[in-house]
Amino acid sequence: MNHLRYRDDLETIQPNEERIAHEIVEHMGHTQLAAAGRHRHAHRDAHAKSHALLTGTLRVLDNLPDELAQGAFATAGEHEVVARLSSAPGDIRSDEVPAPRGFALKILGVEGERMPDHPDSTNQDLLMVNFPVLAFGTVARYQEMLGLLESQAERPAAVQRGVAATARAVEKGVERLGRTPSATLQGLARDYAHPLGETYHTQGALRYGDAVAKLSLAPVGAVAELTGRPIEPDFDSNADAIARHFRDAGADYELRVQLCTDLERMPIEDAAVLWDPALSPHRTVATLHLPPQDLSSPARRVHGDDHLSFSPFNGLAAHRPLGSIMRVRRLAYAQSSDLRHRLNAVAPAEPMSASDIPA
Ligand code: HEM
Repeated sequence: MNHLRYRDDLETIQPNEERIAHEIVEHMGHTQLAAAGRHRHAHRDAHAKSHALLTGTLRVLDNLPDELAQGAFATAGEHEVVARLSSAPGDIRSDEVPAPRGFALKILGVEGERMPDHPDSTNQDLLMVNFPVLAFGTVARYQEMLGLLESQAERPAAVQRGVAATARAVEKGVERLGRTPSATLQGLARDYAHPLGETYHTQGALRYGDAVAKLSLAPVGAVAELTGRPIEPDFDSNADAIARHFRDAGADYELRVQLCTDLERMPIEDAAVLWDPALSPHRTVATLHLPPQDLSSPARRVHGDDHLSFSPFNGLAAHRPLGSIMRVRRLAYAQSSDLRHRLNAVAPAEPMSASDIPA
């Protein structure tokens, strides 16, 4: 299979991109400040609610073929990892309201030339959500969607659940007509499933050494049995369900790479276009093991919520994010993290080892 070779000129700046990106980030700053005022505590401007902060081990597989042995995955071996599981909204809501779930993975101690943004870090962050595409895949459409999301956020939980049910009905109707429902509808119609059984995706493209790729993280073993399974009704939150799982069980995942083989059908600039696995499969490059652990400690929760940050720009130059939706994130994550630390008067932390994470 011939993959696209990475070149520095693969990206295309979108019409009015600088202005739109600036407006998005300014707007996000206002909503984050308003939420901080309401809570008298600052949260992330997206993925505000954490469900768990976990530690574990990523094993990069031996004998990867050349096209997969790139960047952080060039050398076989083990890395400690830190993972923060979250819910996508920029405010704290009931977990019964369907919303995308996040899986932010920090691979500790990777070697290689770094992007300039986090010069003191030696880690590679990979931020993933449980859906393969971003409904609003360009900066222009992202800006339109921000307004829609906010009008949703103002509504009570029961109405938000109704929106999901309506989206599901419309989605079925569209399918009956023989058309594929839009990513927006699919995203809104998502059910309330156990986060440990979900498959998570970078949605946007990134450089993969000599290639261009999207990455995904898929459950294997016991957690694969949780796929599509609702949280038991007696668990009142995702955090409780996850903490209960890790009391006596671990969780295993495969980290997979989908190489771009056709820039027309697998575009970089529109993250709403699904890269069809029939064009290029998701291939495993590493396995992730999260052992049983105690998630009840307030110190650990506070460390994840208030001290740590994850960013697609914390990593190797060999994994530079690509496309307009990725470019806007550069400023968005820096601003959100700075504001959060400043308003809560806490120091940022970047782990060198899993032992830096409070037990
Ligand atoms: C391309 C698809 C995207 C994915 C897969 C993604 C995923 C994530 C995840 C998993 C987190 C939680 C990080 C953590 O636990 O600390 C996060 C946080 C965040 N996301 Fe995204 N995101 C995407 C696009 C965007 C875009 C387009 C923007 C804004 C323009 C954005 C803005 C943010 C912000 C501001 C945070 C909070 C950062 C902080 O305060 O530390 N994201 N994202």
